[in-house]
Amino acid sequence: MWVADMDYPVAPPILRALRARLESGLGYPQLAGDPRLVRALQTRLAGNGLTDLPEKGFKFLPGVVPGLYAAVNALSAPGEAVITMTPVYHPFHLAITDLGRVVAAAPLQAGAERDEIDWNAMELAAAQGARLMMLCHPHNPSGRVWDAAELRLLREFALRHDLFVISDELHADLRYTDAPFESFAADPAVRDRTVTVTGPCKAFNTAGLGIGVLVGHSPELVTRVMAPATGLMGHPSALSITMWLAALEEGGPWLEDTVAYLRGNRDFLVEFVREHLPWAHVFSPEATYLAWIDLRAHPRADDIQKVLLDEAGLAVHNGPVFAPEALKPQYQGFVRVNFATSRALLAGGLERLAAALNPEVRTGEE
Ligand SMILES: Cc1ncc(COP(=O)(O)O)c(C=O)c1O
Repeated sequence: MWVADMDYPVAPPILRALRARLESGLGYPQLAGDPRLVRALQTRLAGNGLTDLPEKGFKFLPGVVPGLYAAVNALSAPGEAVITMTPVYHPFHLAITDLGRVVAAAPLQAGAERDEIDWNAMELAAAQGARLMMLCHPHNPSGRVWDAAELRLLREFALRHDLFVISDELHADLRYTDAPFESFAADPAVRDRTVTVTGPCKAFNTAGLGIGVLVGHSPELVTRVMAPATGLMGHPSALSITMWLAALEEGGPWLEDTVAYLRGNRDFLVEFVREHLPWAHVFSPEATYLAWIDLRAHPRADDIQKVLLDEAGLAVHNGPVFAPEALKPQYQGFVRVNFATSRALLAGGLERLAAALNPEVRTGEE
């Protein structure tokens, strides 16, 4: 229940398209990206508020993470601070540190019903001289979808501090909120300073066929980010292009069923934690199939991931993974749990978790 892929088989229309592609040959794909895929993405992303994306504003990637590295490389300088909101998907921090930049982390804070942005921490992060903010929207691992009011403040923040922004919107199609998804760059005021990355791998469970795209309204900005990296990335595979096109054109009903099932799993998990682990805490994620569970009240919180692995036979992601070096202790005792499996396996995993941890917790009733 750790790595972020789903236990579900590939959507039938994707399988059909892949079989046909295998039978028709595997020569070079169109290197600039299949124009049909660009058109399908223009339509899909317009639904998120990214209207009028120019064809020249699309650059295909072998996955979303290379786009994070390309943006850090091109939009910040060695030694410079780059803003993230922690905890966050760990390659954000790896991109920053691997490239010799410094993480300017603004930890999220727990609100009444969800994790929230700490604006004081954001100001402190900006004060470190950052020129780039890395946004995760929806946010992994908190499961937050930044709402309209937060997006407005984030845009004002980017403008006030004259920041470039890379917005990773990979989880946007796995949402449980009713409001339509709004991209960070939906507002023209921030379009020319923002690149957005996304791909099919979370919604359609196709991470093994790496592909992603970096898009921006400013072809100059997209070229600035991608030109130094293009030759390093190779081209997306023919199969991945076929897969993404099939997902966009025919994958809708499968995705709808999958999100409905995941929503049931999410509610089951949250109820389970509230009922059987009252000393623990979890917010109901608004998106993603990942739950960020606070087990810090457990006497063995310092070793919680290993305890679960060794004594419950349960592999979860360890909280500190999602923090930069200096903040790792702050996230000790948190775990990230993937709930994209069958309801029965999820129930079994949570029962093991409770059976391994509960006996050692003092409830105050003894
Ligand atoms: C926010 C986010 N970005 C990127 C990725 C990875 O994308 P890719 O495998 O396309 O590089 C993940 C995977 O979990 C993710 O959660």
